[in-house]
Amino acid sequence: MEMASPYKVTYHHGKLRAYLNREGIFPACLELDLSTECNRRCPSCPSATGGSPARLEWRFIERLLARLGGETRGLLLSGGEPTMAATFSDALRAARKHGFLEIAVVTNGDFLCDDAVAEALCAHATTIRVSLYDWTHLAEAQLRGVLHRIERLRARIEKAESPLQIGVSALTTAENAHGIDGVGRAVASAGAHWIYFHPFCVRWKEGAPLRIDQRGVLQAIADFRSNVRDGFDVFTFPDRYEEREIRFDGYHAAHFLLVVGADAVNYLGAEVKYQRAHALADLGRRWDGDFLWQKKRLDRIAAVRSDAYPALGSRHRGVLYNHVIQRLLDTEPSSGSDVGAEESSYLYPHIL
Ligand SMILES: C[S@@+](CC[C@H](N)C(=O)[O-])C[C@H]1O[C@@H](n2cnc3c(N)ncnc32)[C@H](O)[C@@H]1O
Ligand code: SF4
Repeated sequence: MEMASPYKVTYHHGKLRAYLNREGIFPACLELDLSTECNRRCPSCPSATGGSPARLEWRFIERLLARLGGETRGLLLSGGEPTMAATFSDALRAARKHGFLEIAVVTNGDFLCDDAVAEALCAHATTIRVSLYDWTHLAEAQLRGVLHRIERLRARIEKAESPLQIGVSALTTAENAHGIDGVGRAVASAGAHWIYFHPFCVRWKEGAPLRIDQRGVLQAIADFRSNVRDGFDVFTFPDRYEEREIRFDGYHAAHFLLVVGADAVNYLGAEVKYQRAHALADLGRRWDGDFLWQKKRLDRIAAVRSDAYPALGSRHRGVLYNHVIQRLLDTEPSSGSDVGAEESSYLYPHIL
């Protein structure tokens, strides 16, 4: 079983077939930032807007979840630090009420011992993904602190018999590849269920994120993977590390993964969040329940081409989904007969 792949989007074959037939679809997954506020100041933070903090109003969150509920099954809460937001517990509860099947929370892990946070996670979330960020530069005490909070949350999960899974994400570089085994073992010992390795990127503020040198990383992950204990999973997204050509005519992934920032703006993809040049719709200014299919939004998505897309070098997931969907559009625009992935192929298939 894999967690991340360019083909994960094909799990949603009904939506994909409809899209290939040029029909309007609801997204499979919503990535939502409750707030841009955060207790940390990571130097290369993708969400650092530079402006004053933004925070979604409860009425907006409720309305959006209600509009998508039943059609969109995956919710990914990010930020800012989502567990700090006053709306955090209510958002998780409302998402379940409105029919979201899988709920993932990306977090720095600093508030996992907060009772209200832990309780909401155990009751409503499917998984958390605790970011170790640039773990080789984390102070020893800081790393120990995160691992300790993971340990305590795992104990709580067992006691409450909660289905919540704890994942950890670690950013990779050619420089830190030698440490992958060590950090992976520490995370496994703390009681996490899985670890996910992904490339460190720079130039977020310019709207053109770019992976830095990743030589040796995939091999180090494969070596670590072959030695782990049962019950602990090691994931990565191999295509994010490769150099193969990517080509698309239209940012198709925006129809499958809906990215909404804490400023209530719908952005093209997660890799260009908070970049005004990539805003598709401003939902805060004037709420319109039918915004997904407005001509202006559809035209903006259709106009994005790979050869002029500044964030292509991030090889972020949206970019890779675009490539797969483009190939289907080029080869079988209407039938979509081969579209579809095995049900069991992906962990959290609704979290794109
Ligand atoms: C902006 S954070 C927001 C959620 C939460 N505050 C956290 O840090 O997990 C979302 C994701 O960005 C990732 N991230 C942070 N800095 C990054 C970088 N320089 N390159 C790639 N991803 C990065 C983190 O690993 C995290 O998974
Ligand atoms: S913890 Fe997350 S949101 Fe906060 S500064 Fe770091 S990467 Fe950014």
